Amino acid sequence: MRRFVRVLAALSVVHAPAVALADADLQFARSKQCLACHQVDVKRVGPSFTAVAERYAVSPGARQYLAGTIRDGSRGKWGAIPMPAQPQVSAVDAARLAAWILSLAGQPDVPASESSHGLEVPDS
Ligand code: HEC
Repeated sequence: MRRFVRVLAALSVVHAPAVALADADLQFARSKQCLACHQVDVKRVGPSFTAVAERYAVSPGARQYLAGTIRDGSRGKWGAIPMPAQPQVSAVDAARLAAWILSLAGQPDVPASESSHGLEVPDS
C-alpha cells in the first residue's frame, strides 16, 4: 500500500508540469484576446484551435505560417467571417501561440477515414 502511494505520488509529479504548461498556454491565449473568438475544441466565431492544428500539422513551415496569420489576420480559409489583425501580439507571442495551437493536433479527434485503414481490430 505504501508503495502504491509512492507510485501515485511519482505519477502526479510527472504529470503536473505538462498540465500546468498547457494551462499556462491557454491563459496566455486568453490574455491575448484569442478566446473571445476561438475555443480549443469547439468552433465559435473562428475555427477551434484543434481543427486548425489538424489542418496544418503536417505542412512544412506551419508554425511560421500560423504565426503570420495570427498577427495579420485571415480571411476566406474557414468561412465567411474574417479574422482581424492582432497588433497586440508580438512576433514572439505569435510564435508561441502558433506552436501551442499546432501541439493540439493528434489528440482524439482523428477523422474516421484516417484511423481505420489497416488498423481494424477484429471483434471477439
Ligand atoms: C474577432 C474574432 C477573432 C479573434 C479575436 C481572433 N481570431 Fe483567430 N480567427 C477568427 C476567424 C473568424 C478565423 C477564420 C478566418 C478565415 O476564414 O480565414 C480565424 C482563424 C484563425 C487561425 C487560422 C488561420 C488560417 O490561416 O487558417 C488561427 C491560427 C487563429 N485564428 C488564431 C488566433 C489567435 C492565436 C488569436 C489571438 C491572438 C486569434 N486567432 C484571435 C476570429 C478571431
